[in-house]
Amino acid sequence: MSCRSEDILEFLLTRRSIRQFKLESVPDDVVLKILNASRYAPSAGNRQPWIFVVVKDGKIKEKLAGIHAGSIPLLRAPIGIVVACDKNTSPFSYQVDCANAAVYVMLVAHALGLGTVWIQTLRNIEEIQKTLELPENYVPIAILALGYPAEKPQPRPRKPLEEIVYLDKYGNKYST
Ligand SMILES: Cc1cc2nc3c(=O)[nH]c(=O)nc-3n(C[C@H](O)[C@H](O)[C@H](O)COP(=O)(O)O)c2cc1C
Repeated sequence: MSCRSEDILEFLLTRRSIRQFKLESVPDDVVLKILNASRYAPSAGNRQPWIFVVVKDGKIKEKLAGIHAGSIPLLRAPIGIVVACDKNTSPFSYQVDCANAAVYVMLVAHALGLGTVWIQTLRNIEEIQKTLELPENYVPIAILALGYPAEKPQPRPRKPLEEIVYLDKYGNKYST
């Protein structure tokens, strides 16, 4: 691999949630390139309980964009990708497995110059299942609005390391 580790760190630190998109559509081969790499996300027992529903249809996208106030960015994105998880295949870890896959989609998209934002689904599961005609065992874990970025947001603040890192036991400071 030719990438320097510093470049990879920089890549990770420069991903942002994107909520404004260019009108430009995303070619199918690019979508498939993203999903092809996203299949390599880790999952418990390598069960890969995910499926990806690529939403291009304007009416369906509009319906998903209406599930709550935070889903509006979907209206401005050419594509939505719904990551849904088969809870029968992986009853204990389907949510974390699919979260891994969703983060892979976000990172691969970023690597290809596209932007994403994760749209919350977990309060609207039945509504989304109905809209996408998903079987009851497929739980939508994330909707990712996907497109070419039309904004360059500043980084959102992060908690300081001192607040979130402990040594051996909760409350024990980890310091150099
Ligand atoms: C589980 C989850 C749910 C989220 N839901 C929404 C959402 O519904 N709408 C939205 O605009 N952003 C949503 N976000 C994006 C977060 O607001 C964003 O990741 C966070 O503010 C950090 O900003 P950054 O991604 O630019 O680093 C969600 C993120 C996660 C991981």
